[in-house]
Amino acid sequence: MGTPQEEAQIATTTTITSSSAPTTAPANPPMSKNALKRLRKQEEWEAGKDDRRKRRKEKRHERKTRARSERAALIAQGVDPQDLQKKKTPSTLVPVGIVIDCDFEEYMMDKERVSLSSQVTRAYSDNKQARYRAHLWVAGFNKGIAKRFNEVLGAQHKKWKGIWFDDGDFLSCAAKVREKMNAADGSGGEMIESLQRSLDEKPAWTRDETDPFPLPDPEPPLDEANKDVVYLSSDSPYTLERLEPNTCYIVGGLVDKNREKGLCYRRAREKGIRTAKLPIGQFMVMQSRQVLATNHVVEIMLKWLECGDWGQAFLSVIPKRKGGRLRGEEAGEDAGEGEAEASEAEEEEQDEEEKEAGEAEASESKAQDPPQAEAATDVGDANKAEQVEETS
Ligand SMILES: C[S@@+](CC[C@H](N)C(=O)[O-])C[C@H]1O[C@@H](n2cnc3c(N)ncnc32)[C@H](O)[C@@H]1O
Repeated sequence: MGTPQEEAQIATTTTITSSSAPTTAPANPPMSKNALKRLRKQEEWEAGKDDRRKRRKEKRHERKTRARSERAALIAQGVDPQDLQKKKTPSTLVPVGIVIDCDFEEYMMDKERVSLSSQVTRAYSDNKQARYRAHLWVAGFNKGIAKRFNEVLGAQHKKWKGIWFDDGDFLSCAAKVREKMNAADGSGGEMIESLQRSLDEKPAWTRDETDPFPLPDPEPPLDEANKDVVYLSSDSPYTLERLEPNTCYIVGGLVDKNREKGLCYRRAREKGIRTAKLPIGQFMVMQSRQVLATNHVVEIMLKWLECGDWGQAFLSVIPKRKGGRLRGEEAGEDAGEGEAEASEAEEEEQDEEEKEAGEAEASESKAQDPPQAEAATDVGDANKAEQVEETS
């Protein structure tokens, strides 16, 4: 077997030859423009691996050298070294639930399931390290994903704190989160500024004029018993204004390269559950679609809890390759510009997302400050197991 490039070359050559002999079917069907492009990207990604590792190492080294000389300068000025010890900002539990709905296994390919498990790991790590952490649950934890965590990843997740894995569906998890958030002993979490503001200025719940994913049946009535549950979906005609206390947000645990458009939206609507999309369009001008990876959506919510500002949250989480800029900072660009190219670019983006979810954790965990090491270590170990699986 040759390199992917050689194989692509063979495929192209076969097409030319077969056009002069129309009765014989080509041995290798020609590669589509998109497949060739993906192949090139894959090669570039692979070729850049060592460079990226080297750059990360250099950056870590620079960071440490800078910190050491800053510390030495302060001590030389008479600062007590004890005062320079980093103090961990404690993480505070807040009365907000985040449920990752993993009940979509049949819609994913093997490598997408692997990617999803990395994303769940990442979400756990982000929540654990966040200034304000949510009640984090994984619903539909049965079948392949549970098997992977238990067998391939060495059941590390059983030692994780602050996350619950449940084999029930997202609504049964939401009921358990509700119980925990409303616990009479006050253990459900602390009311913080961003959430208090949502109570003071109750956010509007308005429907867009144009429906991004019109469905033929009329919208069913709201399930009153679950009115504190919001299923997040980029296909929803509603836009999330603020996160609200004592509310459970469901994020689809799905890696599908957007093949299954509207899947989560339909699931929520059928059950009379509120849906909402993140207000990306109000804050950002994007060069590609506004469908984000599961762990990024979780991270955005955690950032919002901390700063109460969607623009800041999007800017710090949405990957740079999505070409997002804050509105008002774009240089004479049309809001919709670039979206036409989205479908072509989307598959590539999501491929990169999958790779990053697996690759970035290990390097980040090495660069963690000591107070964050606990989360980083178990995530790092889980990630090592992921890499073993991917290469075997
Ligand atoms: C990769 S997306 C899955 C896309 C899938 N086709 C679907 O039906 O939603 C993973 C999940 O992240 C959340 N998500 C992604 N982008 C979002 C957005 N712009 N607004 C709200 N939720 C979003 C949704 O919960 C979604 O199910």
